[in-house]
Amino acid sequence: MKVTIDGIEIEVEPGTTVLQAARMIGGDVVPPAMCYYSKLKDTGGNCRACLVEVSKGSEADPRPMPKMMPSCKTGVMDGMEVKVKTSERALDARKAVTEFLLINHPLDCPVCDQAGECDLQNLSFKHGLEKTRFKEEKRTFEPENIGDKIQLHMNRCILCYRCVHTAEQVCGSRNHGVLNRGDHAQISTYVSAAIDHEMSGNMIDVCPVGALTDKTFRFKSRVWFNKPFNAHRNCDKCCGKTTLWMFGNEIQRVTARKDEYHEVEEFICNECRFDHKEVSDWVIEGPRKFEKFSVINQNNYTRKMDTVKIATEKQILEGREQDRKKISMKEVPYKNTENS
Ligand code: SF4
Ligand code: SF4
Ligand code: FES
Repeated sequence: MKVTIDGIEIEVEPGTTVLQAARMIGGDVVPPAMCYYSKLKDTGGNCRACLVEVSKGSEADPRPMPKMMPSCKTGVMDGMEVKVKTSERALDARKAVTEFLLINHPLDCPVCDQAGECDLQNLSFKHGLEKTRFKEEKRTFEPENIGDKIQLHMNRCILCYRCVHTAEQVCGSRNHGVLNRGDHAQISTYVSAAIDHEMSGNMIDVCPVGALTDKTFRFKSRVWFNKPFNAHRNCDKCCGKTTLWMFGNEIQRVTARKDEYHEVEEFICNECRFDHKEVSDWVIEGPRKFEKFSVINQNNYTRKMDTVKIATEKQILEGREQDRKKISMKEVPYKNTENS
């Protein structure tokens, strides 16, 4: 069946959703997705970040759909026409959704380990308001310890349910979930049971915000100061294919490899993620290419270079000799081009 998205026609299989069809086209017709996750079943329909306008329902029934539709849950019909970036209504709706997502959000990006690779940060950058209209007190939660490897910051959670689906489908059992309803809904372990499954670390990777972060990486570095390398090892629990986040010769963090939609390519086990932080543990394949646009792309490099130039270095760190040395290659002398 045929669907047209922002004037681009594509043929898709029955059962394809509008979001999947947009991803087949690629580029800027792809709506943002905060809760849908193609590697997990039954995700989507929670965040409303992916709203689009369906200007023609189908060939058989060409009436437009009156409301904005969540593209991750809307199946394609033959002859359907959809507007993503060409619809003022859809863009307004996305702005409103962003504003709602931020109502109770702490916005503590400067101290959040997710900053630089956060989908909410990227969404706000593109669709958020510069000011807040929300004057009431923000909803907060008591800190909860959910184990020694995963840090939960419930105040940052957007209740996308991705981690709950991961617990169910990747870990095979679920010992945490969403408790309560509405404003009081929160991710929690039942009776503070620790999440101790060998694949539980994948919840960190699927979380689109800084609600679930890696305790072993906590406050070690901003992600854009790390250099990512693809690496692998022989592992009998998972594929063993990972991305190593290096600071000099030190492996500071290990994650699964992620695609252009920031979704993991293959889930990895906790042993690969948390227990192998020596370079000798890994076969390093080479620098990791970032497909997804994000703050972190500032530190992107996709080919071997004799010198490394970091776009943000001059603005952020000029005058801080010690920090410059840390984030630059040792052999590369820093040149202040403005004064030379
Ligand atoms: S979760 Fe994202 S938007 Fe929220 S504080 Fe962290 S980096 Fe900022
Ligand atoms: S903790 Fe993260 S993955 Fe889980 S529901 Fe909240 S935002 Fe989603
Ligand atoms: S990605 Fe579609 S509703 Fe969240």
